Amino acid sequence: MIIARTPAELKASRGPGSIGFVPTMGALHEGHLSLIRDSKAATDQTVVSIYVNPTQFNNPDDLENYPDTMTADLEALQALGVDVVFLPSYDVLYPDGFTYQVTETDFSNELCGAHRPGHFTGVLTVVMKLLNLVKPDKAFFGEKDFQQLTLIRDMVDAFYLDVEIVACPTVRESDGLAMSSRNLNLTRCDREKAPLFTKILHRAADDTDAIRQLTCAGFDIDYVTSLRGRRFGAVNMGEGEHVVRLIDNVAMEN
Ligand code: PAF
Repeated sequence: MIIARTPAELKASRGPGSIGFVPTMGALHEGHLSLIRDSKAATDQTVVSIYVNPTQFNNPDDLENYPDTMTADLEALQALGVDVVFLPSYDVLYPDGFTYQVTETDFSNELCGAHRPGHFTGVLTVVMKLLNLVKPDKAFFGEKDFQQLTLIRDMVDAFYLDVEIVACPTVRESDGLAMSSRNLNLTRCDREKAPLFTKILHRAADDTDAIRQLTCAGFDIDYVTSLRGRRFGAVNMGEGEHVVRLIDNVAMEN
């Protein structure tokens, strides 16, 4: 497995055939590993990036507490047979100091965007940079971050980028909780309660009913909104600087 830290090292690592790309912020879980398996099945060489992108964190505590499991991540990537791991630094990715930005002005203001100012500008900017550096044929994203996936796919269309965005289903724990790196930061008590969030999103009669049930269960709600045939939700668990934000979305049954 090649470890590349600079654009030149990344370029030198490029093998023949098609490239699959899985961008991550590390703290890898089964959701990431399933994206990597999909990439390996669909392309000749798989590149995984690990970079905790500061420009997409609106809350400094969230950035500070973001889990770092680099040694275990690299072992997992090696065991899966990943070809290249890209580990850029801030200076590599932001030679401009984030003075150039990619901003979407419509859907990015809804759902998570309404509660995390600047978040999607940070995501779109770093993904644009990573796609330009890795130059993949296909890039793989999870449906758990459905709004992110939609905005990235639309950005690729808007800027005529020559890459296929592949959407992969949300991977869940056996109790239904969507896998997320942030789950590592839940207290035992909150981890036991967290699957109820997803169950309520699924079972509620409508958004108002979901908000009522989540409030009764003691969740601190950012939003519950149904659009595009899905019900989206975000809640916060925990206190002070240890707040853990959970997001999920479920297809709505007619
Ligand atoms: O989904 C993520 O982990 C991040 O938002 C991404 C796409 C790697 C960009 O930093």
